[in-house]
Amino acid sequence: MSNKMWGGRFATSPDAIMTEINASIGFDHRLAAQDIRGSLAHVAMLAEAGVVTRETADAISRGLNQVQAEIESGVFTFSRALEDIHMNVESRLAEIIGPEAGRLHTARSRNDQVAVDFRLWVRDTIDHLDAQLRGLQSALVDRALEHAGDTMPGFTHLQSAQPVTFGHHLLAYVEMLARDRGRFADARRRLNECPLGAAALAGTSFPIDREQTARALGFDRPTANSLDSVSDRDFVLEAMSAAAVCATHLSRFGEEIVLWATPQFGFVNLSDAFTTGSSIMPQKRNPDAAELVRGKSGRVIGALTGLLVVMKGLPLAYSKDMQEDKEGAFDALHTLSLCVEAMTGMVKDLKPDTKRMKAAAGAGYSTATDLADWLVRTLNLPFRQAHHITGSLVRMASERKTGLEKLSLSDMRAVEPKIDETVFAVLGVEKSVKSRKSYGGTAPSNVRAQARRWRARLDKELKALGSH
Ligand code: ARG
Repeated sequence: MSNKMWGGRFATSPDAIMTEINASIGFDHRLAAQDIRGSLAHVAMLAEAGVVTRETADAISRGLNQVQAEIESGVFTFSRALEDIHMNVESRLAEIIGPEAGRLHTARSRNDQVAVDFRLWVRDTIDHLDAQLRGLQSALVDRALEHAGDTMPGFTHLQSAQPVTFGHHLLAYVEMLARDRGRFADARRRLNECPLGAAALAGTSFPIDREQTARALGFDRPTANSLDSVSDRDFVLEAMSAAAVCATHLSRFGEEIVLWATPQFGFVNLSDAFTTGSSIMPQKRNPDAAELVRGKSGRVIGALTGLLVVMKGLPLAYSKDMQEDKEGAFDALHTLSLCVEAMTGMVKDLKPDTKRMKAAAGAGYSTATDLADWLVRTLNLPFRQAHHITGSLVRMASERKTGLEKLSLSDMRAVEPKIDETVFAVLGVEKSVKSRKSYGGTAPSNVRAQARRWRARLDKELKALGSH
């Protein structure tokens, strides 16, 4: 008995079932622009090589441009029966220019065609993501400069550990994003070889010029092995790995914003732009955008895992399983792009409560390490001994439910007689951060210098792009 809820859809003919499972046009229509770009380069090369006549190549090019225009303006009708974007474009081309359209597929197969289309798409997407990530870095650097000297608690184990500055915290994400951009750039470098001309799997007997098509499409060179050319999806896997790591960074940041925005922390306020109210609890303002950035990392990571699993059992060269490479990648990279955009918006939007952050920065005996360091520096004690003395003083303060700086000199001397009043100078939060001048440390002067370095570097990148 067929299930009434969904059985009907598949209870038709075997033909209908085959179309349903086989067709990729529902998603690979997104490769239309790249497909046409690839075909234009291919036919120009075929003409150059004397495989098709100039007249035919011109007719095909004009036809392809018309197809492109029809797709862009939305008048193109995609057909499921035609399976995928390649067949949809070619079939429309035949309607426009007649049987000469059939010469376009000389010395080519859909196997190398889809490989080149998808490489072009991933490359375009990497370029777009790189620009977006630069934008997010830029927003972070601006806020870091603004808050280079504003203190907040630095955490380990989510317990207040030592004071840091808010600017320093934001610059941590600038570093992560720099590595993300580096990973995308690496992936792009390896991706940038052209599989077009590998044909079905073994190359072709036509006198094609693969250097020419590679150059025309902006690739560094043609791929060297025809089997590898049509069976390789490393370029998607690498882009998705970079995306998964990046999404993980954004997720951690999302989590921090969620924490910071709680009334309990009260470190930042987000405007209505990135929060929603509760339908039942009027007092609430929920950091939905930050939560979604955190949550959406799941599908980005999932898409990477999905394709690894698809690929792991495939013998060389092409298998239809590989058609499963697209939806996950489209979704993952589009999702990441949206998350970067949302994060950039939140970074620009968030209003830190610097007073609350500063108050919290001093809580939890966060300057205990400064006290221990003072004992080492001033009294020349071994650090382990200084650590022990500080521990006793923290216990004393904690028993009295007060701060370290509130202990009297005689209290301190009861634990270590050589302590003098200059110790109080290091017990303040501001003093603590100012003293952390080691390279990469949180001193406001460091943070300001780092932020300025980043500002200059990002501006230089933008300028270099502008002069292209
Ligand atoms: N739609 C196919 C894909 O995305 C195109 C390649 C088809 N090749 C084939 N031999 N059936 O993988």
